[in-house]
Amino acid sequence: MATTDRSPDNLPEGDALAAKAIGPASAGVKNLPRRAIGIDVGGTGIKGGIVDLPTGELVGDRYRIPTPKPATPEAVAEVIDTILHELLHRKGAPSPDDLAVGVLVPGIVIDNVVLSAANVDDSWLECDAGQLLAELPGQIYTMNDADGAGLAEARYGAGVGRTGTVMTITLGTGIGAAMVHDGVLVPNAEFGHLEFEGEIAEKVASASARERADMPWDEYGRTVGRYLKHLERIFPPSMFIIGGGISKRSEDFLPYVEGLRAEVVTAQLQNNAGIVGAALYAAEQTALTDG
Ligand code: BGC
Repeated sequence: MATTDRSPDNLPEGDALAAKAIGPASAGVKNLPRRAIGIDVGGTGIKGGIVDLPTGELVGDRYRIPTPKPATPEAVAEVIDTILHELLHRKGAPSPDDLAVGVLVPGIVIDNVVLSAANVDDSWLECDAGQLLAELPGQIYTMNDADGAGLAEARYGAGVGRTGTVMTITLGTGIGAAMVHDGVLVPNAEFGHLEFEGEIAEKVASASARERADMPWDEYGRTVGRYLKHLERIFPPSMFIIGGGISKRSEDFLPYVEGLRAEVVTAQLQNNAGIVGAALYAAEQTALTDG
């Protein structure tokens, strides 16, 4: 099936400018601020950065603080506060009066409420992150970690110019998934929790499952291939983007991922994808809310 080429060079002039502003397959949200902040709450570190939205690049280095133990919502909120204050004092930071902040957590998030906690402290279950972070500067939006990474990959990374469904799969402690259709995110695709070969998929095909089983790379590639085939039967995308830390080793296992209709590519934004996607999401939500 042919995909429409919507790369900036092939659009009429007016569209090309809009496309370059927020990525070709964009959601078309207008009046975005130029910069926003993304914060990624991970198992070992909480990382934040200022994101330049027209380019999807970080302005300055990201700032990282180890995740507190236990990683309760209150302890994490304190770290987010510290990160925000550090970033807001930097040159090039967005103004606190016009500030959108996206925060990523590894669970289902609906209306800023965290509804699952597979690989994170149980106290996050039912946590209203909107309330938890209400005192911090800016308009804060919370979203699923893989959704942040997948949105960034679709709009600035490996999926740029792709229409149709771009599905990012992050292979890490768990398996995260993000579905983006024509640049618009359909949030909370928990495909790591589908049943696969009699197990929960992330127990067999995540990066940590490979380590636990001491699985050779070719076998891991074939396992990931069967898992993607399973997904393809149910939600056929036009492209799979493989992310997560293990994507640095994609040369070792992606050659064994075979027989899929969709193109399978490696994530491009690596470590910063989540921060970039969170910032973009928050900026778009703010622009939509403010009209
Ligand atoms: C969680 C997802 C998360 C993924 C990656 C899964 O166990 O259920 O919400 O995106 O891990 O962190």
